[in-house]
Amino acid sequence: MLEIRALSKSFGGVKATDNVSLDFADGSLTAVIGPNGAGKSTFFNLITGALRPDAGQILLNGVDMAGKAPPEIVRHGIGRAFQVASIFPSLTVEETMLAAVGADQRRAGVMRRRFPLVETRDRAEHAMELLGLAGKRNRTAATLSHGDQKLLDIALALVLEPKVLLLDEPTAGMGTEERWRMIDKVRELWEKQKITVVFIEHDMDIVFKIAPAIVVLCYGRILATGTPEAIRRNEAVIEAYLGSDDHAGAVA
Ligand SMILES: Nc1ncnc2c1ncn2[C@@H]1O[C@H](COP(=O)(O)OP(=O)(O)O)[C@@H](O)[C@H]1O
Ligand SMILES: [Mg+2]
Repeated sequence: MLEIRALSKSFGGVKATDNVSLDFADGSLTAVIGPNGAGKSTFFNLITGALRPDAGQILLNGVDMAGKAPPEIVRHGIGRAFQVASIFPSLTVEETMLAAVGADQRRAGVMRRRFPLVETRDRAEHAMELLGLAGKRNRTAATLSHGDQKLLDIALALVLEPKVLLLDEPTAGMGTEERWRMIDKVRELWEKQKITVVFIEHDMDIVFKIAPAIVVLCYGRILATGTPEAIRRNEAVIEAYLGSDDHAGAVA
């Protein structure tokens, strides 16, 4: 269970995260939506430790992650996708996976090695298969399509066995077909791994189709939470977000 309690973060005068409290049940799949600048990425950056909260708690099974360094938060079980392909362009898919696990273990210290070597390989294999990358194991990251690079990012997060997986716009920059392929994979890994998945997505077709639960952020605050049906009919959401989106679509 991931419990966010009164989480706040300001940048100068901007309250990017403003007293946010939310529960994410084990094994849930939640979409976070909201207009540009609503605080979606900041919310994720606080949970992963990339940003330090001004106030509040981030309780993973009762243990507060607030203020901990990112590698420690990863080891507690909160994973996120990184821009791996741009960090290790010349490593192959398989090398990238193994390097990431190795780096995590070195940070943890050899005495606290998380997974034995054989198990590491099994994990890397399993994650590559789950994301459909096993057949591309010998390709270098730089030569993968944009969609496959993103899948590699997710595979890398998965190999560290997260309890909670955070995905910030996994479909960003993709065409329609690639987008659905990505989101089908996200849904599939959620169903198979039974982990808690929270993803930020601005394509409402995708959100309403695959997310059983939706959180709407606006100006750093929670505007609404609920099922797709409830969010679709929520007046405040329509006014702040969905309505204006439709309008923008109609004008474009
Ligand atoms: N590192 C930062 N420094 C200053 N302001 C920031 C920083 N990160 C985010 N912000 C501001 O916080 C608000 C929320 O940003 P962000 O979390 O990126 O929104 P979203 O992901 O929903 O588009 C915006 O007003 C943004 O300009
Ligand atoms: Mg963002």
